Amino acid sequence: MSSRVEGKIALVTGAASGMGAAAAQMLAAEGATVILVDLNEEMGSQNAKRIGESASFLKLDVSDANQWQDVASEVEKRHGRLDILVNSAGIVLIADIEHTTPDQFNRVLAINAGGTFLACRAMMPLLKRSNHASIINIASTASHQGFGLGFAYGASKGAVRTMTKSIAAFCQDNGLPIRCNSIHPNEIETPMMEEVMMRTGKPEPVADGVLPLGKLGAPKDVAYAVVYLASEEARFITGTELLVDNGSVMRPFGTSIVDPT
Ligand SMILES: NC(=O)c1ccc[n+]([C@@H]2O[C@H](COP(=O)([O-])OP(=O)(O)OC[C@H]3O[C@@H](n4cnc5c(N)ncnc54)[C@H](O)[C@@H]3O)[C@@H](O)[C@H]2O)c1
Repeated sequence: MSSRVEGKIALVTGAASGMGAAAAQMLAAEGATVILVDLNEEMGSQNAKRIGESASFLKLDVSDANQWQDVASEVEKRHGRLDILVNSAGIVLIADIEHTTPDQFNRVLAINAGGTFLACRAMMPLLKRSNHASIINIASTASHQGFGLGFAYGASKGAVRTMTKSIAAFCQDNGLPIRCNSIHPNEIETPMMEEVMMRTGKPEPVADGVLPLGKLGAPKDVAYAVVYLASEEARFITGTELLVDNGSVMRPFGTSIVDPT
């Protein structure tokens, strides 16, 4: 590994599992000091321990505004600023429009969209103190295509997609050194995807060095995108959306081999 985010202070939500865990690990390997946050204290602190001295864990429910204020105070006390914020915490609910209760809808929105909003709001004063800050919101291709089996989930990710652009515009309008972008994964092999695949069928995971046609990606496929957007290599990129989806949005109807004759 190199030092693409050397000396930067990063906070990653959802860092106990899946893409958040992979992003925390890769940011640390690239030179950042990383604060992992998650509801799952056991797995979150294990991940921080595995990363080593440059990592620590804080327990947090991303949907709780008061807990975010406590985390912001702690980050300020320890580091005085924040350079990288990755919002990866999220839940999925497999329920279509007819089977989603109002309470379920509100819960999914509170965690996926509300959690992203509260994180950005609480961390803004610390991000303003960075010379070059980057917010990376993990949305989903569900924000492009909808999700028939995951009505509330799709709604929440649509909100993350547009909030990202609103934050990017706000930062530019106010001359703040903060970029804000979203990553839109699809079919990445994590515990969340296992839950979805139980209902939709599961492709094989992809082996390293193989072009993953019709296969599942790995959490590190998203972590590579996180490191890029976090680094100063992406200094001219804000308000954009990066699909890490193996072409699924480009080809919504799947393979289309047609006999041209
Ligand atoms: N796996 C995929 O293919 C896929 C596709 C599109 C988008 N996503 C998005 O990527 C992000 C990461 O998902 P993943 O697949 O790594 O899932 P995951 O289930 O492995 O990880 C999600 C993490 O979020 C944490 N979390 C859930 N609710 C929380 C809360 N209220 N407060 C704090 N932490 C909370 C969980 O404890 C878990 O550690 C999610 O936002 C998800 O919607 C995943």
